[in-house]
Amino acid sequence: MIDTIAVVGATGAVGRIIVEMLLARKFPARRIKLLASERSAGKPMEVGGVSFDVEVLRPESFDGVAIAIGSTPDEVAAEFVPWAVARGTVVVDESGFFRMQPTVPLVIPEVNPGAIDTHTGIIASPNCSTTQMVMVMKPLHDAARVRRVIVSTYQAVSGGGLAASREMEQGTAAWLAGKGETKSVFPHLIAANLIPQIGSPRPGGSTSEELKMVYETRKILGDESIGVCATCVRVPVANCHSESILIETEKKLSVADVRRLLAAAPGIVVEDDLDAKLYPLPRTCSGSDDVFVGRIREDASSPTGIALWCVSDNLRKGAATNAVQIAEYLVAHPAKLSWERPAVRA
Ligand SMILES: NC(=O)c1ccc[n+]([C@@H]2O[C@H](COP(=O)([O-])OP(=O)(O)OC[C@H]3O[C@@H](n4cnc5c(N)ncnc54)[C@H](OP(=O)(O)O)[C@@H]3O)[C@@H](O)[C@H]2O)c1
Repeated sequence: MIDTIAVVGATGAVGRIIVEMLLARKFPARRIKLLASERSAGKPMEVGGVSFDVEVLRPESFDGVAIAIGSTPDEVAAEFVPWAVARGTVVVDESGFFRMQPTVPLVIPEVNPGAIDTHTGIIASPNCSTTQMVMVMKPLHDAARVRRVIVSTYQAVSGGGLAASREMEQGTAAWLAGKGETKSVFPHLIAANLIPQIGSPRPGGSTSEELKMVYETRKILGDESIGVCATCVRVPVANCHSESILIETEKKLSVADVRRLLAAAPGIVVEDDLDAKLYPLPRTCSGSDDVFVGRIREDASSPTGIALWCVSDNLRKGAATNAVQIAEYLVAHPAKLSWERPAVRA
């Protein structure tokens, strides 16, 4: 049992679910402290029948806090994480800011839990699109070594936060009513549309979101030789990211092998019966902590290729669940709540 866990960005799309999950999973902390910006401070927030006060994020917010789960934009994480680490708080961070720093472990508990033990105050949780893909890759990589992955994503609007979800709701209502639509979060109108750009342009023509899938995958699996080609697309779906994934392995795996390996993997559910029209769908997977896989078939264009379809709740396993699992590991291993020296200075 720890004294206090803080949720930074508690009023956001991910933050609200983290608070709800800490209560539902009876997280062993005496107090849950909710932090956000000036905009939310002083406003009570009701989660799971419990009323919380939201406090403004400040350096002193972390006095006496053993673990903080951060769920804020990158620039906010860059500022607050050093405040917390300097006060002895271990931060589990959802933002992209620290993920690729060499001293920061990037962790999916089902895939590389041992990396948590190497932390020096900060543990990063991966990008939501990366997490569900790597969950699927891990058992296949262990059995037959993954050489190359080609992935196309169909990413829900909730991945862009609360403002993005509002933009789709209002935009869709306006589109259906034939009224004027507006946009501020997405680069194009999202209603009845597909947007093949998530994140900012990077040299070579990829987007920042696509490169996260390349570099984070290699870091988590500890294998720099894995080839990843990602195309990330925003779709007008409320929640749950879907991915079409082609996986090439060194050793051939049959469809039956893949089905068996995935069905036995923790946190993965296989839903795969085309005749019965059974495959994962965003609307049926929403609200679950698992990663769902279906449409498993041979890729006839490659001697060792497997094609599959993967859906997962980006707000849960793609974010909140993963971070809460890491926090639970820390509490179960209290020695990991202290470390040699801070990774960064305040
Ligand atoms: N959405 C997903 O599926 C997902 C998945 C994986 C990772 N992530 C990452 O998780 C983070 C949060 O995403 P989200 O979707 O939850 O975004 P969001 O809905 O926009 O929420 C952002 C949160 O950050 C807080 N915040 C913003 N500026 C702040 C400031 N200056 N000081 C203190 N708090 C501040 C907001 O507080 P106010 O309400 O007071 O503004 C809000 O609680 C991002 O880094 C995102 O990339 C998101």
